[in-house]
Order: sequence, then C-alpha cells, then structure tokens
Amino acid sequence: MPKKTLETLFTEERIQQRVQDLGELITQDYRGKELTILIILKGGFLFGADLCRAITIPTYIEFLGVSSYGHEEKSTGIVQITQDLKYSIAGQDVLIVEDIVDTGRTMAYLLANLKTRKPRSIQACTLLNKESKRCVDGLELAYTGFEIEDHFVIGYGLDDKGQDRNLPYIGYYPS
Ligand code: IMP
Ligand code: MG
Repeated sequence: MPKKTLETLFTEERIQQRVQDLGELITQDYRGKELTILIILKGGFLFGADLCRAITIPTYIEFLGVSSYGHEEKSTGIVQITQDLKYSIAGQDVLIVEDIVDTGRTMAYLLANLKTRKPRSIQACTLLNKESKRCVDGLELAYTGFEIEDHFVIGYGLDDKGQDRNLPYIGYYPS
C-alpha cells in the first residue's frame, strides 16, 4: 500500500523563526555566562545545530546519545544512554536540547541522571511538547518551541522508524 501524504505541521520558515526567537531568549537569560549546550542524539541534532547558531554567548557543544528500549512509535520509559559525555559537566550551566517531550520519561531520566553530575545549573529546551501525553509529575521545561497535539510527528530530526530525520519541515500522517 502506498504511504499516505505527509501533512505539514510546521514549515521550514516557521521552525527557523521560532528557533531564532528561542536563541535570542536563551542568549538574554544566560548573558555573562558560558553555556554548555547538550544536544540529545539522535532526534535533537538538527534543532541543536540551528539553535546553537542562534545563541551568541560563549558556548560548549556536547552530545549525549539516548534511546528508549523497544522504541517504535511509543516510548517505553526505559532509557538507555548509547553515547555518554566524554567530559565532566560539574560546575557548568547546562541546557539539554531535545526534539520532543512526549510522556516526559526520557527528559525526567536525563534531568535526574545529569543532576547527579553536579552541574551549576541545568535546564531543558525542547522544540516540541506534547503536554497532553505527560506521564511524569513536575517536569520543568524552561524553553519550548511549540506545543502540539497528540500526533506522531516526523522530520527536522524526528524519525519514522529511523527514516525522514532530514526533512526540513515537520509533518504527520493524518489518521
Ligand atoms: P518520552 O520519553 O515519551 O517523552 O519520549 C521521548 C522520545 O520519544 C523522543 O525523544 C523521541 O525520540 C520519541 N518520540 C516521541 N514522540 C515522537 C513523535 O511524535 N515522533 C517521533 N519521535 C517521537
Ligand atoms: Mg529524542
């Protein structure tokens, strides 16, 4: 059966505009500091690449690979670090950069794990947030690009069974 047509949710222009706005906001908030931008792989790679170029204070860029076991279209909540940090983040101001927060289990795990490494501060930035799907309490997202409905979205880093991360826009298949 042929694939259904992908419905555009956010165009490339809309994403780029929002990323610029977030970059300016983060630049203001961290003025006078050095920021460690921690890009979560794989999904955060495009957002992270664009966001870090919209931030104009001094930065360190780090990558952390994460996967949810048995991940198809749903997160299992069991998070595995597939590529850990090479350096200590102790004493640093850290901003976690994620593609999407769905149930919130991945971000809750990341915050809990990274806090044990004693950063000076740690905050979360996600391009997309599915607030209605939240399964964890008290998750604080300092920066959110867009609130979205419960669609499985694809593109701009987000994959459909491993594919389509390279789409410059974000879309979904209507059910
Ligand atoms: P959470 O732990 O349920 O918040 O899920 C987080 C992870 O699930 C994200 O980092 C994505 O890898 C994946 N995910 C959740 N929703 C979507 C989606 O709509 N499209 C693609 N991946 C998603
Ligand atoms: Mg992800």
